[in-house]
Amino acid sequence: MTHSLSPDAPIGVFDSGLGGLSVLRHARAALPAEDFLYVADSGFAPYGERSTDWIRARSAVLGEFLLDHGAKALLIACNTATAAAAQALRERWPALPIIGMEPAVKPAVAATKTGTVGVLATTGTLASSRFAALLDTFGRDIHVVTRPGSGLVEAVERGDFDSPDTRALVASHVEPLIAEGADVIVLGCTHYPFLRPLIEQAAGPAVRVIDTGDAVARQLARALGRAGLLRSGHHGGERFWSSAPPPQRSAALQRLWGQDATVEPLTG
Ligand code: DGL
Repeated sequence: MTHSLSPDAPIGVFDSGLGGLSVLRHARAALPAEDFLYVADSGFAPYGERSTDWIRARSAVLGEFLLDHGAKALLIACNTATAAAAQALRERWPALPIIGMEPAVKPAVAATKTGTVGVLATTGTLASSRFAALLDTFGRDIHVVTRPGSGLVEAVERGDFDSPDTRALVASHVEPLIAEGADVIVLGCTHYPFLRPLIEQAAGPAVRVIDTGDAVARQLARALGRAGLLRSGHHGGERFWSSAPPPQRSAALQRLWGQDATVEPLTG
């Protein structure tokens, strides 16, 4: 086993790109003493239309990279990679705490008054057996309307959060959910929280938008606590890698995380 399970080791986080930063900001707030290693696989984004086998193999490469850099736990900050690869990664590293993401169907079912919930996620997540199982467990008695948010991941990766084109694209995904009667919309992809203002505007004030970043950060803290791996007495920091080509590599990530983020190239 290549990883060291010590409380002083960092937490490894990965996503197909910048979306996982929406989860990292919650994890950063919940766990101020932890160091985080973040891999943005932007050079290969989006994952949403790729095969399960491809995502599984790529997730193993990124997991291995993070473990080689000393990670004591993995946070898969990507719904699509969780659906495709979480089980395989857990089988590969059984002693390692591995936290994944899934669309917040359960809280949405608890919150809906109309009995209709909308889920925006990638094609890969919506087509996965994990998502089918989630609907089977929590979505039986309500109407769940799903919609692949085609083009939204690319808009976030481009740093296009507010152009007329992005507004129109967001509206084209949100309006059909509202037309079906949804009063809750689940953001089932970690890129979408960066478009939340546009999603809320398109949905209107009567619709609640749910994102899982906060809940996952708490789950990560609990998992580390259970494993005796919580760090304390330290001011945590972050280290970033990206597979994006040099012109976008730093700019895109810094726009979302802050100008002082240093982004190292991820090769391979
Ligand atoms: N951020 C991702 C997710 O949560 C993946 C998006 C993609 O690359 O298609 O599903």
